Amino acid sequence: MSFPPSLGYRTALVTGASSGIGASTVEALTAAGLTVHAVARRGDRLQELAARTGCVPHVLDITDRKACAAALDGLEIDILVNNAGGSHQSPIQDYPPDEIDRILDLNLRAVMHLNRLLLPGMLARDRGHIVVIGSMAGHYPMRGSALYSAAKAAVSHAFDVMRLDTLGSRVRWTEVAPGRVATEAFMNSIGPERAKEFLSKETLQPEDLAASVCHALMAPPHVNVSRIEIYPVKQASGGFLYAD
Ligand SMILES: NC(=O)c1ccc[n+]([C@@H]2O[C@H](COP(=O)([O-])OP(=O)(O)OC[C@H]3O[C@@H](n4cnc5c(N)ncnc54)[C@H](OP(=O)(O)O)[C@@H]3O)[C@@H](O)[C@H]2O)c1
Repeated sequence: MSFPPSLGYRTALVTGASSGIGASTVEALTAAGLTVHAVARRGDRLQELAARTGCVPHVLDITDRKACAAALDGLEIDILVNNAGGSHQSPIQDYPPDEIDRILDLNLRAVMHLNRLLLPGMLARDRGHIVVIGSMAGHYPMRGSALYSAAKAAVSHAFDVMRLDTLGSRVRWTEVAPGRVATEAFMNSIGPERAKEFLSKETLQPEDLAASVCHALMAPPHVNVSRIEIYPVKQASGGFLYAD
């Protein structure tokens, strides 16, 4: 896959690059010839990715607003892939109080702050593409994920608004909303036992998501791929539940 030269894209920044979808996206974008800035908290993982792909590692907590502003200062970024995210699965009455803020900070606030920091340069150059990895949980009810779903739904809607707010420019906005992908995310959100059961099914792979991101990014300049929903063929949303 390659970028139409008329897009003029040279650089990208991918958050959550230390594993899963983010690492695969860095691999795809470096292979396509971009200079890719890779952001995450685990420096050892980023160093390994940098050795393999030539990406530029940034050890950074994206919920740390000041650290992000300092790290991004002076960088000219054509493509921002807001991929970092995470969930804690439980009904709201059982939610650890600190997790409420963490889930909203990570999946919603940090995305909006990064957009705010990098969009002005894109508008000034009249060239840019901002992607967010959303979730089917942002579009369809999913038990135990009220906070995560709310954050992903908010970001999805915000992207539609920001596309309107930048209308007339050549900045493009894309949400990629997947179903189940085989990554470490499940270990962190539902624990090892349930994660093993979840991932025993036929799932999407991180490379499938990287390909969807590239499909949107590599579309010709007159095309904005606004939203992609992507599921494993054996997963679907919808239906009705009844209590016994
Ligand atoms: N897997 C799925 O089934 C699925 C389905 C729908 C949507 N998604 C979405 O896909 C995206 C990527 O997740 P994944 O499945 O690839 O899971 P993953 O392998 O767990 O990746 C999550 C990434 O986010 C980074 N991250 C977490 N907190 C961070 C912070 N405060 N600052 C910087 N980076 C942070 C992690 O790196 P560090 O820990 O090193 O910081 C890691 O690189 C997420 O937005 C997730 O909500 C996943």
